[in-house]
Amino acid sequence: MKVALLREIDGPFEVVDVPDPAPDGKVLVRVRAAGVNFADVMVRRGRYPQMPELPTVLGSEVAGELEDGTRVMALTAGGGGYAELAAVDPSQVVPLPDHATFAEGAAFLLTFLTAFIPLTRQVRIGPGSRVLVTAAAGGVGSAAIQVAHGLGAAVVGLVGSREKIETCVSLGAEAAYLYDELPEDERFDVILDQVGGEVFAGSFARLRPLGTVIAVGSAAGAWQPVDPARIVGRNVALAGFYLGRLLRLDPELVGSAVGELLAFWQTGALAPLVGHELPLDAAEHAHELLESRRSVGKVVLVP
Ligand SMILES: NC(=O)c1ccc[n+]([C@@H]2O[C@H](COP(=O)([O-])OP(=O)(O)OC[C@H]3O[C@@H](n4cnc5c(N)ncnc54)[C@H](OP(=O)(O)O)[C@@H]3O)[C@@H](O)[C@H]2O)c1
Repeated sequence: MKVALLREIDGPFEVVDVPDPAPDGKVLVRVRAAGVNFADVMVRRGRYPQMPELPTVLGSEVAGELEDGTRVMALTAGGGGYAELAAVDPSQVVPLPDHATFAEGAAFLLTFLTAFIPLTRQVRIGPGSRVLVTAAAGGVGSAAIQVAHGLGAAVVGLVGSREKIETCVSLGAEAAYLYDELPEDERFDVILDQVGGEVFAGSFARLRPLGTVIAVGSAAGAWQPVDPARIVGRNVALAGFYLGRLLRLDPELVGSAVGELLAFWQTGALAPLVGHELPLDAAEHAHELLESRRSVGKVVLVP
C-alpha cells in the first residue's frame, strides 16, 4: 500500500510503498479520505507534546470501507491515516451515515467531538447563552459554531482573515470578527479557544460573570500561566479539554458523545465542512494550507 511517510521533523512527505498493515487484533479500513488535523502540523514541526517516533505516517482519522464494503469512520490512535489502508482498533470504528461522503466522514469525529464534549459536559449552554469561538472558520471552529448554534446559543466567531467571516455566518454564527476587531462591549458565557498565546490570555476579560474559558488548542503559541486569584476575583472558570487522553481514560463517555453527534447530524442541524480535498501526494500542500491559516473547514487527503 502507499503511504505519505514523514522521515524527519520539518521534512517532506514521501509517498512510498510499504507492506500492508498486519491486522493484529485490529480491523483494516480501505482509506477513502484522511482528515488532516492541526496536531499533524505540530508533529511535523516537532512541536507536539507527545511526539511519535520517526519515520511515521501521520493522520488520526479516516473514512473508508471495511473488507465487506461497510462504510465507516474511525479514529486511528497513533496515526497511520495518510495511507491506502489503516489498521484501526475495532472499538474506534463508527458507521458512516448513508447521506455522508467519505470526505465528510474524515472531517467529522475529531472536530465535532472536540467541540461537542466540552460544550455539553464542561459547561451548560442554551438559549440566552453567548459563545465565542476562536479560529472559528477552521476544522474544530466550524464544528463548534454549528454545535453551539444547534444547542440554542448565540455564537460569535473570531478569525484571522476577512474572507473567513462569511464562512462563520453561513454556519450559524450571529457575527464574526478579526481578532482585534471584537467590539469592546462584547462579553460571553463560554469562550472555546483554539489559538492559545495572547488570544487565550486576553479571553478572560471577555467573560460574563460565571463564564468559562475552555482551552482546546494553542495554534499560535503556548498557554501562559493563569493566576487563580484572577479566576476567583473575576468569578470565572478555566476548563481544559484534550480528546486524546479522554479517549483512553473514558471511552464510554466519548462513545456516548459519538452517538449523540450522529443523531444530531441525522437531523441536519450540523454537517462537516470540507474545505479542501487533496490527493495523498499533496500532503505538504495540505499542511501548508493549515500553517499559513488559509484553510477553511477541514482539509482532507484522498489516497
Ligand atoms: N484538545 C483537543 O483534543 C484538540 C482536538 C483537535 C484540535 N485541537 C486544537 O484545536 C485547534 C484547531 O485544530 P484544527 O485541526 O481544527 O485546525 P484549524 O482550526 O483548521 O486550523 C488552525 C487555525 O488556527 C488559527 N491560528 C491562529 N494562529 C495561528 C498560527 N500562528 N498558526 C496557524 N494557525 C493559527 C488559524 O485560523 P485563523 O487564521 O482564523 O485564526 C488556523 O486556520 C488547534 O489548536 C488544535 O491543536 C485540540
